[in-house]
Amino acid sequence: MSESRTLLLIASSANPDLLSTPRALGLRVVLANAVPPADGGLHDVHLPVDEFDEEAVLAAVRGHLAGGGRIDAVATFHEGSLHVAARVAAELGLPGNSQEAVRAMRDKYETGRRLDEAGVPTPATRVVRTRAEALAVAGELSYPLVLKPQASGASQGVTKVADEAELKAAFDNISGIYGRDSFSEDGYSVPNVARVYAYPDAEGVLVQEYVRGDEFALDFVYGGGEYRLLAIHDKPYPFAEPHFIEGAYATPSQLPEVDQKALITTAVDALRALGATVGGAHVEVRLTPSGPKIIEVNGRLGGTNAFVQESIRESTGVWGPREYLRAVLGEPVDFTGKENPTPAGFTPVLADRTGELAGFEGVAEAEALPGVVALRWMAAPGDHVVIKYPENPVSCFVLVLARGERREDVLSALESADQLLKPVYVN
Ligand SMILES: Nc1ncnc2c1ncn2[C@@H]1O[C@H](COP(=O)(O)OP(=O)(O)O)[C@@H](O)[C@H]1O
Ligand SMILES: [Mg+2]
Repeated sequence: MSESRTLLLIASSANPDLLSTPRALGLRVVLANAVPPADGGLHDVHLPVDEFDEEAVLAAVRGHLAGGGRIDAVATFHEGSLHVAARVAAELGLPGNSQEAVRAMRDKYETGRRLDEAGVPTPATRVVRTRAEALAVAGELSYPLVLKPQASGASQGVTKVADEAELKAAFDNISGIYGRDSFSEDGYSVPNVARVYAYPDAEGVLVQEYVRGDEFALDFVYGGGEYRLLAIHDKPYPFAEPHFIEGAYATPSQLPEVDQKALITTAVDALRALGATVGGAHVEVRLTPSGPKIIEVNGRLGGTNAFVQESIRESTGVWGPREYLRAVLGEPVDFTGKENPTPAGFTPVLADRTGELAGFEGVAEAEALPGVVALRWMAAPGDHVVIKYPENPVSCFVLVLARGERREDVLSALESADQLLKPVYVN
């Protein structure tokens, strides 16, 4: 069916498996992004544009079509390009989430408003633009509170605050976050990579009720009115507060069946309430004593640069990115995999201090650990590291993927790898 069809893929990725996925489905690929990937064999046409700029991508697409090129479907795996993909899909009349739905997911104030309206549980949320407003709304809610950018990612700026002094500091920190080009410390400097998550006209600061409870992430592919669960990921270690830096994921979930069902129902209710109709999703939920509460709905598959999808594939045999592409192609998804999911998971390994990387230690030992499937490097020798939570949440230098017969085997492989892998600094 899809042999001769052409996919517009907006933004590429550090993950080589992603770009080979359209090929494996027999698609021709038009890739729109600023810097073409090193392996030029996986796309047919490159449109050199800023993949986060709606107008620029649209102009390049129009040019491609005017020159006799074709586009039969549009996809992106990248949070920062979701609005661009929606705009192209709308203009070309192709399957995909609407621009309204993308806004409802990326603008977290809008997410909260819509979920509230639909009766889907989510934290009480206010949006503010000044310190005075932040202090005023804090009086309506009660401490502890969470402050975060209105549209963001990678936990950038997300801060738990216990009192007025902490609230003021967090507000000041977040309100300047999108304007920052870089973060510096002791003569070391890194770009503000998380700024691509900003959304036009959604640059306020959110003040939210703090939600207690264990956190879970659910990955979905949906289309034709059906919402198919790829996996529930447990987050087996509590988030490090007050900055909520992501830790390990493990799947399949060990929650009782009844709780898993409640998470799935709430997540699907949220997707419907936000108008998500065709695509992928990564939904973050906390399980409170009174049931699930939605923290965030991302309108794309979970962590395609991290090992979220690989962890699902190890566990279930299903490759989410392929099924997401089927959904935007308007084809039926195929979730045929293992009869029963097996344990898998991954962890980010975090750098411990600011400096310049000379190399890494413990690599061969970590790779040789039983259960370790793969490492993915997020930093290279010569790179600077600036540890500056919460403005700059980026401190992961390598990701580790593991599998095992039991959950304990997976977690012990991840813990051992985490202990072995160390950055070596220039000085
Ligand atoms: N209202 C809240 N109550 C408790 N924890 C929260 C709340 N909001 C965010 N968090 C924690 O912070 C993490 C990051 O927040 P999130 O809104 O998902 O930001 P991002 O888009 O950067 O991932 C969440 O995964 C969760 O652990
Ligand atoms: Mg999140």
